[in-house]
Amino acid sequence: MRQTDHAVVTVPYLRTMKAEERKIAALTAYDVSFARIMDRAGIDVVLIGDSLGMVVQGHKTTLPVTLADMVYHTQCVARGIERSLIVADMPFLTFQGGMEDALRAAGALMQAGAQMIKLEGAGPVLDTVAYLHARGIPVCGHIGLTPQSVNAFGGFKVQGRGARGGELRVQAQKLAEAGVDALVLEAVPAALAAEITRHVPVPTIGIGAGRDCDGQVLVMHDALGLNARAPRFVRDFLAQGGSVEGAFRAYAEAVRDRTFPAEAESYQS
Ligand code: KIV
Repeated sequence: MRQTDHAVVTVPYLRTMKAEERKIAALTAYDVSFARIMDRAGIDVVLIGDSLGMVVQGHKTTLPVTLADMVYHTQCVARGIERSLIVADMPFLTFQGGMEDALRAAGALMQAGAQMIKLEGAGPVLDTVAYLHARGIPVCGHIGLTPQSVNAFGGFKVQGRGARGGELRVQAQKLAEAGVDALVLEAVPAALAAEITRHVPVPTIGIGAGRDCDGQVLVMHDALGLNARAPRFVRDFLAQGGSVEGAFRAYAEAVRDRTFPAEAESYQS
């Protein structure tokens, strides 16, 4: 063990955590300074999210983010990480077009320092997931509110309520069969996320998906209370932690002892 006294987090280790019912604490980061503090604070997974389009670049959606942006920020974050697992988002239009394009984009992110890539959606991307998986690239799926489809959804809205829940159950199962090593569930009812978590063999990481997921992820700026119009699933950990490192530690502890998210921070069916 190093100074942090936390294990080095690998892709297989995430499955061990699920099997041992140990919660996974994940946060987004975009630069080396915050990445270093997260690594030291015991954050298990650091995600270079394409949310950087909104919280770093000031766009209204994640759609303008390019592969070059993602490569640059992944390189920045990777320089600060010793133990956390580094996951990078595949930006809009880098994986929807074809498997070869997706392989090239995923390869660029892995060469920039990612240890796993994340891509949004199910149906049309299942073959791509299987293609990347077969070539040794760990993939994290992402279903529910997938922000790259914000225009199709008509806004950042909760997904999977009522009869639509069945579609998400099927998507989760198919993604697991295609070879994802983890699955983000965003803005879905807590009961549905709990059911998916029980049925899929891979760890689920929730954001606005209730406390029964195998782990939680938040956009760093939200966890630090920097978002004036924060959605209901956001908690300001800076207020409670007293410093940036304190906030990240408080977040990890709240995820691990299952006090975050509370019911009021979750969506009902
Ligand atoms: O882009 C991002 O930050 C994400 C997380 C919110 C899951 O995809």
